[in-house]
Amino acid sequence: MVAIAAEVNGVRQGLAASTFVPVSLDPPLVSFCVQNTSTTWPVLKQVPLLGISVLGEAHDDAVRTLAAKTGDRFAGLTTESNDGGAVFIRGTSVWLESAIEQLIPAGDHTIVVLRVSDVRVDPEVEPIVFHRSVFRRLGA
Ligand SMILES: Cc1cc2nc3c(=O)[nH]c(=O)nc-3n(C[C@H](O)[C@H](O)[C@H](O)COP(=O)(O)O)c2cc1C
Repeated sequence: MVAIAAEVNGVRQGLAASTFVPVSLDPPLVSFCVQNTSTTWPVLKQVPLLGISVLGEAHDDAVRTLAAKTGDRFAGLTTESNDGGAVFIRGTSVWLESAIEQLIPAGDHTIVVLRVSDVRVDPEVEPIVFHRSVFRRLGA
């Protein structure tokens, strides 16, 4: 699970995504799929840099907040914005600063390929995965 977030005209925008996949090491590429009906994505995609935060085991509530249809998507979360507008969630295991490299239409979603420009890792925080509608921890 990841949060994809950025500051657009001074306002934090973001969404939770379970479709995050690392794609390539050289060049460093990752991807996620965005619903074509998303109203947040057309806003997010305008900014040069997006923040991807890999959510940790303490973040199941955060996922629901970040995925909320209405209300403050960042309620209860501490975020950090960088100069390029990328927004990261504090206390998450990995931060990837990225820029859109390619958009590939795929049915009712679009595959968004992102080029990673910076990585920060917090080894103390374990990531979570969303599998069969339940949040699970990765095995040791
Ligand atoms: C567990 C979970 C996983 C999600 N994964 C994705 C995803 O991979 N791609 C996506 O576009 N939206 C995903 N969503 C939905 C977004 O987080 C968010 O709810 C949606 O973008 C809100 O609608 P809006 O874009 O119109 O604001 C997911 C939601 C949940 C709860």
